[in-house]
Amino acid sequence: MASKISYAFGAFMLLCGSTVNADTPMTDAQRGKYLLQVGGCNDCHTMGYAQNNGRLPEEQWLTGSNVGFMGPWGTTYPGNLRKRAAQLSAKQWQELMRSPMRPPMPTPSLAAMSDADIQSIYHYLRTLGDAGDAAPAALPPGVTPNTAYFDFVPKSAEATKS
Ligand code: HEC
Repeated sequence: MASKISYAFGAFMLLCGSTVNADTPMTDAQRGKYLLQVGGCNDCHTMGYAQNNGRLPEEQWLTGSNVGFMGPWGTTYPGNLRKRAAQLSAKQWQELMRSPMRPPMPTPSLAAMSDADIQSIYHYLRTLGDAGDAAPAALPPGVTPNTAYFDFVPKSAEATKS
């Protein structure tokens, strides 16, 4: 009996779950927002997002960061994606997202993205609209940035012992 009840309860929960997750139709822009969130794009392209565990208002999202990432590639800055999308046509956005980028931009993740996903992201960014300033330009290797930066140069445990 008890197992029957729990079975029925389980089936009920399953039904509830499927109702919650049911294909609530997402608009293209909502889909873009979803993709940006699961893609972790805010972690780098929104100042303070990762440090605040994602608790930043959407108005601040994806406006870029002036904290550089310094490594063997020089120093790169996560760009202001809202400003870029506002300046570019859908086709130009597609080309940008398919162009090679320096670390720590997760280029392979973008390469795995479908054209339709790239367009959904564009639509969401256009919905958010232009905001914030452009990120600083990238610096070549060997140049010390005059902004805050993360040191992405690998250090060996051996070397730091002495
Ligand atoms: C680990 C940090 C990091 C994450 C996560 C990240 N990016 Fe980036 N992104 C960067 C950096 C740094 C650059 C600058 C690269 C360069 O200068 O070559 C960049 C550049 C870009 C550019 C080019 C911007 C421009 O104006 O030229 C686009 C577009 C972009 N990222 C989209 C995304 C998207 C979409 C995601 C999520 C799927 C994402 N990024 C996740 C760090 C990141």
